[in-house]
Amino acid sequence: SCLAIIAARFSCGAPRGGAELGPGALIDSRIFSVIQSKGSYVCSFDNLSQDKSLGNAIESSDDSDPDVDGMKSPRTVSLAAKRVSECVYAHARQGRFVMTLGGDHSMGIGTLTGSARALRERFGGTSAELSVLWVDAHADINTPETSLSGRIHGMPVAFASGLAKSRGKNVFDWITETHLINLKKFVYIGLRDVDEAEENLIKENGIKAFTMDDVRRQGIQTIMDLALEYLGDRTPIHVSYDIDSLDPEWAPSTGFPVTRGLSLEEGIYISHRLHKTGNLIAMDLVEINPLIQPSKLGKTLESAASVIKSALGIDREDI
Ligand code: ARG
Ligand code: MN
Ligand code: MN
Ligand code: MN
Repeated sequence: SCLAIIAARFSCGAPRGGAELGPGALIDSRIFSVIQSKGSYVCSFDNLSQDKSLGNAIESSDDSDPDVDGMKSPRTVSLAAKRVSECVYAHARQGRFVMTLGGDHSMGIGTLTGSARALRERFGGTSAELSVLWVDAHADINTPETSLSGRIHGMPVAFASGLAKSRGKNVFDWITETHLINLKKFVYIGLRDVDEAEENLIKENGIKAFTMDDVRRQGIQTIMDLALEYLGDRTPIHVSYDIDSLDPEWAPSTGFPVTRGLSLEEGIYISHRLHKTGNLIAMDLVEINPLIQPSKLGKTLESAASVIKSALGIDREDI
């Protein structure tokens, strides 16, 4: 079976630019060549945030894309996520493993909805429901109403699950029932910077969440046992991996670094366990920002590549 690599060069969901340079930096790096040699289908999104077909809303403050319900750059992000969704869907529909490189985490709206829709079409029924592992320092489950920043990279879980609804005005109105993920088949790992409203949403919706405190108390091995047991062993898994889940020591070049994160070894272990299930069907690796701590970009890229290789099972075999 084949691997599709999608470069989601996009940062309009984040407060500052730079994340659109993440995919290129990763793909161009020497350490990525072994991954790329596995890719039979590459679907590239060049500078989504400056794409003319998205209108000219390059800046978050651009007059051509005014706020909707407090959301910044709503139409631009919606349209970019829609294109990512369609690309992920097209590859996943063919049974390919889909690797999406970001880009800011608003693209998670695209990747999760693309995977969920493809699974429903391929298999039908409840057995076709996607499992999601969200590895992140942040919960990214704000709705437009709860968000303090208005930035959509803090909202992907809400839009992909239907907690946040489409707004008309070409803002996420492309999301239908068939795109949605089930929050009962969703697990967080690595949380340590969660807004109060997000905590409430997690509780109200009974979402399984393993915080960094849980990881420190029980160890990453036990946490992965529990996470995979919760999701069940006959379920396709999509992992959405925010590089800021790792401690800033290992991944400094990111927009929202938070201390007390996962060690690289723990990060790799998560990927390794996912690979070993044989059920991993898609991965996002997002929020690398080459403009932040540029002198440590190499280290960030190396960490990202290690986590990716482990998920693909090429960490031991090919090197
Ligand atoms: N919770 C904050 C917000 O809603 C920060 C989100 C950070 N998200 C990210 N993908 N880095 O704005
Ligand atoms: Mn994050
Ligand atoms: Mn995130
Ligand atoms: Mn293997």
